Amino acid sequence: MHSLEITNVTKKFETPKKDPFIAVNDVSFTIEQGKIHGLLGPNGAGKSTLISMISAMQRPDAGTILVDGASVTEHPTEVKQMLGVVPQEIVVEMAFTVEEVLYYFAGMYGVPEHERGARIREVLTELDLIDKLKDRARNLSGGMKRRLMIAKAILHKPKFLILDEPTAGVDVSLRQKIWALVRRLNAEGTTILFTTHYLEEAEQLCESITLIDHGRVIKNGKLKDIQQEFSKNAIHFELFDRCVPHLDGVTEVGSDYEFPMTDLGRDMTALTTHYKGNIKTIRSESASLEQIFLKLTNNSNV
Ligand SMILES: Nc1ncnc2c1ncn2[C@@H]1O[C@H](COP(=O)(O)OP(=O)(O)O)[C@@H](O)[C@H]1O
Ligand SMILES: [Mg+2]
Repeated sequence: MHSLEITNVTKKFETPKKDPFIAVNDVSFTIEQGKIHGLLGPNGAGKSTLISMISAMQRPDAGTILVDGASVTEHPTEVKQMLGVVPQEIVVEMAFTVEEVLYYFAGMYGVPEHERGARIREVLTELDLIDKLKDRARNLSGGMKRRLMIAKAILHKPKFLILDEPTAGVDVSLRQKIWALVRRLNAEGTTILFTTHYLEEAEQLCESITLIDHGRVIKNGKLKDIQQEFSKNAIHFELFDRCVPHLDGVTEVGSDYEFPMTDLGRDMTALTTHYKGNIKTIRSESASLEQIFLKLTNNSNV
């Protein structure tokens, strides 16, 4: 079964102008259970709006969203129990202590009372925040507040964790902690959806991605397949001796030669058979997610 099934979802916002603004436009994609899926797109693409609809905070104007087969609009309470959501903006209950905040959320998400204390300690230890148990939320640093928000989202061991730009503006060490946590939770079976501006992060963490721009899906699928589709499909090589008869299709590019690739194995064999020991270096190109992203969104504001 799919953890998430989004079908033809649209969200419009009223504007002072005549036409409403379409923030999410006929979006469809699915996430298989147990996967880490990246939702990528430039600022204003519609990522957070989509997440707020998955987490039943806003209703779609059209389309359906199923979490573990349950409709978000028909069974919002059931869906909320299955989800852990870390929103993009930091929202913490400033006047309360870390322990009080987490106690409240553990109750709200149905963690049995006798387990709450131990579970809170476990999560805070993992997030390196256990020393702050009795501190007021308002006195935490930005990075600590973000960790508190993650703690709130994972207390009830959700089946499906959604993180909206969890690593934007955090330092390298916290970023790595968050990655490690995402990997561990996923290894334990949690399905993960996260949005990010760091394309390297998506390359590190996820198997599949959905790329959206101006509210529309512009690419969706396995990261490997997308990279392959966008790789230049060319083999580049250098020769020791350049004054030799060339194989059909070979062109000179600077000091390199380029050969259009259709089948890596077969084409490599053709080249090495033709040039034999004359080949100094040889490589095939694979596009980085960053190149793909820029090409597809035509947007340098990543
Ligand atoms: N409540 C709202 N009212 C009007 N416009 C909104 C509202 N929420 C988001 N938008 C607009 O929808 C677009 C998508 O926003 P958002 O989902 O936050 O993008 P992202 O998270 O990808 O940066 C933006 O142009 C934003 O200004
Ligand atoms: Mg956003």
